[in-house]
Amino acid sequence: KLLPAPQGRLSGRKVVITAGPTHEPVDPVRFVGNRSSGKQGYAIAAACRNEGADVTLISGPVSLPAPSGCDVIHVQTAREMMAATEQALPADVFIACAAVADYRPAVETPHKVKKERGGLTAIDLIENPDILATISQLDVGRPQLVVGFAAETDDVLGHAETKRARKKCDWIVANDVSPGTPSMGGDKNEVTIITGDDDESLPMMAKDMLGAHLARRIADKLDQG
Ligand code: CTP
Ligand code: CA
Repeated sequence: KLLPAPQGRLSGRKVVITAGPTHEPVDPVRFVGNRSSGKQGYAIAAACRNEGADVTLISGPVSLPAPSGCDVIHVQTAREMMAATEQALPADVFIACAAVADYRPAVETPHKVKKERGGLTAIDLIENPDILATISQLDVGRPQLVVGFAAETDDVLGHAETKRARKKCDWIVANDVSPGTPSMGGDKNEVTIITGDDDESLPMMAKDMLGAHLARRIADKLDQG
């Protein structure tokens, strides 16, 4: 149903990207969630498509238009995002840009919780599956290149490197989301791409530009085999 991708350095390659937050229902009208505009993930999806890739974008709830030419799969919860990611494989590249809610309510109340019927004073939480760690550690069908993101507020590079090692992704893109930095919700981002052998600290740039830069670096890596 999609038009053929333009010819580019990622022609013939399949890229799967998660983006946006997840919403974990408390009841039919309330959720537990993370902050994420989805802008960076959508920009990476568009950039990979512009380089000729066949792109599946698995998106949590955001208010952004679908990037043209990408196959967009809309999900709400982490478990739906996990299932959609597994379904979208095999792929050459997996990029986990989503701000997945780490926990979900242990029970989803099927009816609206009402104040006059006792209301809600606490929510029991259970941990969600880790999509990036799961895909990074697939025995069969692991994408050749798995890229994670690490949004941190202190010791950004230290925490990001620890995360890369723990989850076993190939690269991790680290950014500082301390209050006052523009990356959360804004149109710019300032990141360090940690690859292990060729780390790169980039200046602040538009999220679109960073998407294009990442698409080029991914093409370089796949060319190297
Ligand atoms: N991630 C994921 N599934 C999860 C949690 C995180 O795929 N359940 C991915 C994110 O998309 C991101 C990377 O893992 O690429 C790091 O996410 P982050 O929230 O920074 O790491 P956590 O391991 O959840 O650690 P914490 O939130 O405690 O810092
Ligand atoms: Ca997290």
